[in-house]
Amino acid sequence: MCGIVGYVGKQKAAPLILEGLKRLEYRGYDSAGLVLLENGRFTVAKKIGRVANLETVTAPLPLPGHHGMGHTRWATHGGVTDANAHPHVSSDGRIALIHNGVIENYSKLKAFLLGKGYTFVSETDTEVLCNLIAYHYAKEPAAAAGDSRFVNSVRKALGHTEGTYGIVVMATDAPGELVTARKGSPLILGLGDGESLVASDVAAIVSRTQNVVYLKDGQIAHLTATTFAITTQNSGTVDPVIDKVTWSIADAEKGAYAHFMEKEIFEQPAALENAMRGRFSEDGSTAQFGGLNLSAGEFRGIERFMFCACGTALHACMVTEHLIERFARIPVECDYASEFRYRNAPLFRNTLFFVMSQSGETIDTLAALREAKRKGYKVLAVNNVVGSSIAREADGGIYQHVGPEVGVASTKAFTSQLLIGAMLALYIGRLRDLSFGEGVQIVRALKGAPDLARRALQQADHIRGIAQRYAHHTDMLFLGRLALFPIALEGALKLKEISYIHAEGYPAAEMKHGPIALVSEQCPSVFFAPSGEMLNKVVSSMQEIKARKGPIIAIVTADVELPAGLADETIVIPECHEAVLPIVASIPVQLLSYYIAVARGCDVDKPRNLAKSVTVE
Ligand code: G6P
Repeated sequence: MCGIVGYVGKQKAAPLILEGLKRLEYRGYDSAGLVLLENGRFTVAKKIGRVANLETVTAPLPLPGHHGMGHTRWATHGGVTDANAHPHVSSDGRIALIHNGVIENYSKLKAFLLGKGYTFVSETDTEVLCNLIAYHYAKEPAAAAGDSRFVNSVRKALGHTEGTYGIVVMATDAPGELVTARKGSPLILGLGDGESLVASDVAAIVSRTQNVVYLKDGQIAHLTATTFAITTQNSGTVDPVIDKVTWSIADAEKGAYAHFMEKEIFEQPAALENAMRGRFSEDGSTAQFGGLNLSAGEFRGIERFMFCACGTALHACMVTEHLIERFARIPVECDYASEFRYRNAPLFRNTLFFVMSQSGETIDTLAALREAKRKGYKVLAVNNVVGSSIAREADGGIYQHVGPEVGVASTKAFTSQLLIGAMLALYIGRLRDLSFGEGVQIVRALKGAPDLARRALQQADHIRGIAQRYAHHTDMLFLGRLALFPIALEGALKLKEISYIHAEGYPAAEMKHGPIALVSEQCPSVFFAPSGEMLNKVVSSMQEIKARKGPIIAIVTADVELPAGLADETIVIPECHEAVLPIVASIPVQLLSYYIAVARGCDVDKPRNLAKSVTVE
């Protein structure tokens, strides 16, 4: 969603801020802006649309200064206009602010500030906070020794603020200083060589430095080019931990690929290797995880699992549900994090919670985690972004280790979640009734996943051809059974996310209870038809579609021979164990959606209205 980047140092700030904003584009946004400070004056530029538009309007400007900040906005309060874009400057001209999050009590604060003579040019909650900081700045006495008027005024303003924020503030009286604070919206400090940065995402600063500090909720940081100090909202001091980012800028660039999504689809064999590395026991019969913070004994005492997530990650949870119930025979429930947080579900004792989130910042998932913890449950997280809010607040968890995922439509993060889910099911199963022999078989199968993924990717050209033939359709069904039902949901989600084709995922047999009404020559169905106990049933569902002239794209395992003429198109994936099948079956639907979106001329990496990580409700 909204993106933040701030800079103070020796270099000209504007090019670095624009570069940082471009690296944040993938998060989804609808306008962009920057502010620079030189000789006690702000230079502000903002524009709706892409960062490229901002570059166009700023190209003729002098853009002075070594100190500034930029923002990409995803509208919440107020429409998509230049005036509503950030940065905002207080009406007395002394404070500039960029903000991610939502100030919930902004109308009350605005009324107060209007009474004090402050004026507003936008409809945003951010401009209210900006003027509130200016109000406290004007009231604050000149700094006492060791104290900062600037920091104190931010702290006081935040003390009156309800809601969530990640902010960066500049003051005309404070050249070379940035003040930044967070509550519910991620912020990372970058400590470079004679320069300091702040960003909402490591991707924006990793080209300058790999030394970072993950700011925590309730903390305020004061940065200059060569110093930084962190305090809390209550004025306490903080001993910061400096972390090292383990990936480099090349990981966040698309190289020879046309889109990040394409790159990330083809990275899946390596991503799967990384997600499983070092995570199998020496005897080769089970999985092991370092960060669960729960002993085997405690795991044995668990009688139920509850998984919460959003979007693609929820589909990974649904596959995990299936596998845990298969391998460990323990009941599992999955819920939309956004529903769980409000529905006050009755919960069983001895339930262990899991949340899954690629970004670790999805606000609904974070809220579900907090709700479960509030009720006294332990919550573990499956998460890709080290140091994310969810990783920090969970009681333990499993990192996906697949490097940055930039494409809005999740691919390699999804399949690595499927892999980790299968390993988790194996681990729990082996603590119970799953035999040594069965464990060994599953481990072998999981270790083979990268190679199977590689073989599935070899279908890319064939799938591109199919995509070109089907790209003109406006409706599509995705149908699968058992663990492939969530993959049908995921296929439909992928297609609608990036190609804007209406698509629905259904359990194949359920199709006749409604979606069959959509079936015609104009509405193709993508079927998962692997070998196994359900194949005949799936074939019957295909016949029902065929009888109504619905075109069929069948994804079959290599050992399946469908009745002649049943499928219009066939995509063959390798035969594999049920623990790995969802991973392998995901690849053709990712490719199909990708190539259809490309054929339709869609902006694959930045689909309209979507954000990579949704940090507002
Ligand atoms: C957004 C993205 C989806 C993603 C979902 C959950 O809606 O567009 O692709 O699946 O958030 O994201 P998370 O980071 O929590 O996995």
